[in-house]
Amino acid sequence: MHPLVRYAPVKTLKGTSMETNRRSFIMETNRRSFMMDTGMTAGVLALGPLAASLAATAPAQAAGKFDFDTPYNRLGTDSVKWDQPLRERHMGHIIAGMTTADMDFKCPPAITAALAKRIQHENWGYMDMNSPGPQAFKKGLIDWNQKRYGINNINPELLGITTGVHSGIIATMRSLCPPGSKVLMATPIYSGFYGDVRATKTVAEESLMKQVNGRYEIDWEDFERRMTPDVKVSILCNPQNPTGRAWTREELTKYGELCLKHKIVVLSDEIHCDFISKGQKYVPFATLANKDVVNNSVTYKSASKSFSLPGMKCAWFFTTNPTLYRQTVDNNRADLSTLGMIGMQAAYAGGQEWMTECAAYIDGNHEFTNQYIKANIPMLKVGAKPEGTYLAWVDISQVADKINAKKLADDMNKNPRINARTGMAVKATPEDMVNFWFATNAYVAMNSGTGYGLGGQNHMRMNLGTSRRTIKAALDSMAAACKKLQSA
Ligand SMILES: Cc1ncc(COP(=O)(O)O)c(C=O)c1O
Repeated sequence: MHPLVRYAPVKTLKGTSMETNRRSFIMETNRRSFMMDTGMTAGVLALGPLAASLAATAPAQAAGKFDFDTPYNRLGTDSVKWDQPLRERHMGHIIAGMTTADMDFKCPPAITAALAKRIQHENWGYMDMNSPGPQAFKKGLIDWNQKRYGINNINPELLGITTGVHSGIIATMRSLCPPGSKVLMATPIYSGFYGDVRATKTVAEESLMKQVNGRYEIDWEDFERRMTPDVKVSILCNPQNPTGRAWTREELTKYGELCLKHKIVVLSDEIHCDFISKGQKYVPFATLANKDVVNNSVTYKSASKSFSLPGMKCAWFFTTNPTLYRQTVDNNRADLSTLGMIGMQAAYAGGQEWMTECAAYIDGNHEFTNQYIKANIPMLKVGAKPEGTYLAWVDISQVADKINAKKLADDMNKNPRINARTGMAVKATPEDMVNFWFATNAYVAMNSGTGYGLGGQNHMRMNLGTSRRTIKAALDSMAAACKKLQSA
């Protein structure tokens, strides 16, 4: 089998097959030996040896109060972004984990202090949602959204706390979407929504966006054409993962009015809202002028993406519509996580300055990455600089052609791997092959565009929520790998 095939025995432990290898790798290695296997020890840079040398030439951070520039080693913390690719993709070493949307920064000191204080009390019994802590959390998030984003209509009576944005979205969907009904989405869109569709036994109705001057836009004609009576909700991602669009007030109004006209409820996921590039604006769906449009929506948010807290599992939703609130709460079987709530309360209470600096740093990461790729990696293409999120959406079609990714995927699909959880065959795609190629040739782990629905073809998503030094090391390595490939 070709070495690019994902599950081929590229490197095996003790000469066993890849599957056996994977299992034994998990069972036999403890955290410390795992780090040693990868050439890391706790406290050193979370970079491979190549990256460490490249990092020395990385552009410096502008002076600020908080340090986003020193790489923070997350290896050995069971991280999806760093540890998982190293384990599953058999990369040998890793320069950058750039997959799932979390950041590599230490959370703000105010959060660590609040958590440390709570840890002094060594009991973790159930928490009362109506007690002072959760109430202060609710007040804090309302204040944050009011002051920072001008959202003046969050009614604490219509505000629910949940485990994650997904659980909130799924709760609303369970009430509004009978199995087999459709969920309209402008694509490419965040892969996790397809999991929400699966969980609710609904069907994705995808409207492919257009690219205009390197920027994604909704194809309104196509979008409305798909608004058939069996579409019950539309999931909106604002700002949009993976394309980085921060929707304008006009776009959101049009989106909302069309949905209202066709009796489709808008589920607005605004989890990435704290990351907006310079010159752009986050327009909360709830601030639209048309009150009927706003009443036809539920918004889902969390401090998780913004403050390095996603593993804390705490999120929230709100609506101005009591019926939609009830319909969401009815299926929101989520419990409150004590540490999650305390972390997020501290984030909203004391994280303003940190967040402002962090968002500016991420904006610099986008600027740097966009320009770097345009100037130095001709095999990759990027459009306009993303307007929000910390994600970059990269066209990898030339790499796919050069490694013959389609044929590799076709060959692999002749003998498909079976997903142990679902029992279903996993269909490999050319994007998966490119993903694997970057992992094993540049030691950079990214997300294959395949998961992002229609429009994900020929793309990969790259997570820039990390130090610029790590990004520079990753891009240098990708540039070197592409150069070698081009001249091969
Ligand atoms: C747009 C979007 N929504 C939701 C999530 C996940 O949210 P949660 O962990 O709160 O369920 C992500 C994570 O990547 C995301 O990008």
